[in-house]
Amino acid sequence: MYVKTDVLIIGSGIAALQAANILGQHFHVQLVTKSSIETSSSYRAQGGIAAVTTRTDHIKYHIHDTLRAGEYHHTLSNVETLIKDGAKLIDELLQHGLPVDRHSNGEPILGLEGAHSFNRILHAGGDQTGKYFIHHLLKKLPSTVTINDYEAATELLLNTNGECIGAFTLGNQGQKCYLAHHIIIASGGAGALYNCTSNFPTNTGDGIALAYLAGAAISDMEFMQFHPTLLCCNGEAKGLVSEAVRGAGAIFVDAKRQPIMKGHDLAPRHITAYTLFMKRLAGEETFLDISMIEKFEEKFPTITKLCVENGISLQDGLIPVAPGSHFLMGGIIADSLGQTSIPSLYAVGEVACTGVHGANRLASNSLLEAITFGHRMAQSIVHKGLPQQNFIIKQNKCEGAMPSLFTKAQLQQKMMETLGIVRDPLTIHSFLQQMPSLQALLSTKRENFNHQQMELYMMHIVAILMAEAALTRTETRGAHIRIDYPSMDEIWANRWIIFSQGHMEVRNFLYEHHQIRGNAEAIFQ
Ligand code: SIN
Repeated sequence: MYVKTDVLIIGSGIAALQAANILGQHFHVQLVTKSSIETSSSYRAQGGIAAVTTRTDHIKYHIHDTLRAGEYHHTLSNVETLIKDGAKLIDELLQHGLPVDRHSNGEPILGLEGAHSFNRILHAGGDQTGKYFIHHLLKKLPSTVTINDYEAATELLLNTNGECIGAFTLGNQGQKCYLAHHIIIASGGAGALYNCTSNFPTNTGDGIALAYLAGAAISDMEFMQFHPTLLCCNGEAKGLVSEAVRGAGAIFVDAKRQPIMKGHDLAPRHITAYTLFMKRLAGEETFLDISMIEKFEEKFPTITKLCVENGISLQDGLIPVAPGSHFLMGGIIADSLGQTSIPSLYAVGEVACTGVHGANRLASNSLLEAITFGHRMAQSIVHKGLPQQNFIIKQNKCEGAMPSLFTKAQLQQKMMETLGIVRDPLTIHSFLQQMPSLQALLSTKRENFNHQQMELYMMHIVAILMAEAALTRTETRGAHIRIDYPSMDEIWANRWIIFSQGHMEVRNFLYEHHQIRGNAEAIFQ
C-alpha cells in the first residue's frame, strides 16, 4: 500500500508531537509509531522539564550545569541554543496553558534534581509530567495529522539523488510505503538493549539502525546513561524512581540505613550510579530512604503505584533501588534544526545526537530538548515548504543471508555485562567477536523479515555501534568507566567517534559540511 504525504514522522514522544502540532498547521502529516502512543520514554518521564524561569536562576548557570554533568563533550553553540531558546519557549508555553504544578499563588513549583545548582524543574501531576504533556499536545493536534500506531518503520527510502523520500513500515495492515517531502525520525533511544532499564521494551534503537542503514552519520554511541534509581525487586528492574525524590530530600542508604553518598545524593548520575553499582557488586543492597518526605503518595503518585504493584510497602520508608540503562546521549547526528547528513531526513529527541548532552545528560534536559528542538525543526521545515522532489526510489540490492543472531534476551544480558557502567575492553572485544560483522548485517536481505526479526536485526546493529565506539574511546568520560583507562584524557577532548557510510572515524568536529550534505549511496555499492 502506498501513502503519499507531505511530512512523515517516525515516533510519537514529545519531540514527535511537538513537531506534528506545528507542521500539521501547514501540511499533511503521517505519524507512525511502533507501539501505542502511551509507549514512549516521554510518556514515562516523571522528573520534568529543566528550564530557567526565575530571576534568581540564570541561563549561564543552566549552561554550566549541563556542561559539567556531560563532562564537556558538547557542541557549545547547540547547548546555548537549547538553554536560551528553551527558556523563552517554556515561558511562552506557560502563558499558553502548559499544565505544570503550581503553588497556590499561581507560580510554578520548581523541583531540584541531580547536578542542578538551582531548583528549576517544572513538573506536572507530581511525577506524571510526560503523560500530562503528551495529552496536552494530543489535545491540540490538528486534524491534518494522522496517527498510525502499532506500525514499525523497517527501511528508509532514498531517491536516486541520495535524498530521503520516505519509509517502508510494517504493521497490522502489512507493509506500507510512505513517500514524503520531509522525513523525521523521533523514535527515541535504545535503553531496551539492556536487561535492566527504565525504558519500554520497544526502545530498541530502531531509528538509529534505520538511519545507519541509509548511510546517515551517527555519533557518541559509547555514551549510554545509567540512572541510579530503578525500582529493584528480586533482582529485576520494575520502573523508574525519579531523581525528583532525592530532590525532595530522599537519600541513598544501605540495608542498615547507613547513608551511602555522604551528603552527595544529588551528584551527577554517573557518580551515583557508579557508587551504587560498586556497592551491589560487593553484595550489598541499596535503598532510597524516603521517610523524611511528607505526603510522598500525593507528591509521587506514579512511584507510589509502582511500589504498591510490586509489593513494596512505603510504611518503613525504604525503596529498593539499583542502576539501569536510561538514556542514550548518542544517535543520528543532527543540527539544532534537526537536519541529518542525508538531505530531507531529520532527527530530533533522544534518537538524535546534537551534542547538547555531552557524555552524560543533565537531568530533565531531555524534555527541554524535545520541546525546543522539535519546535525549531518544525519551523525550519515550514519555512522550507514542499520542494520539488524526485520520488524515484533507489533500489536496495542486499542479497546476503541473515547471519546468526543472539536472541533478544541473550543480547540484553550480554549488553548489561559488556557495555554497562564499568567496561572491560577484553569483554567488549570478545562480545564483538561473537557478533556478526556490520558488513554482513548491511548486506543482509531483509525484505521478508517479520516484525521480531527486524527488531532483533536492528538491535544487533545498534549494539555493534555501541561496542565499537566504547572500545575506541580509550578514556573514561561521562556515563561509564573503562577499567583500563579510568580517567578523562585531554587527547579525547572534543573527539567524536562517527559512523557513516559503513565506516568509523574519529573526528575533531561533530559536523563536517561536506558530510552534512553528502550523498548516502556509497553504503549500497
Ligand atoms: C528522573 O525523573 O529521574 C528522570 C528524569 C530524566 O531522565 O531527566
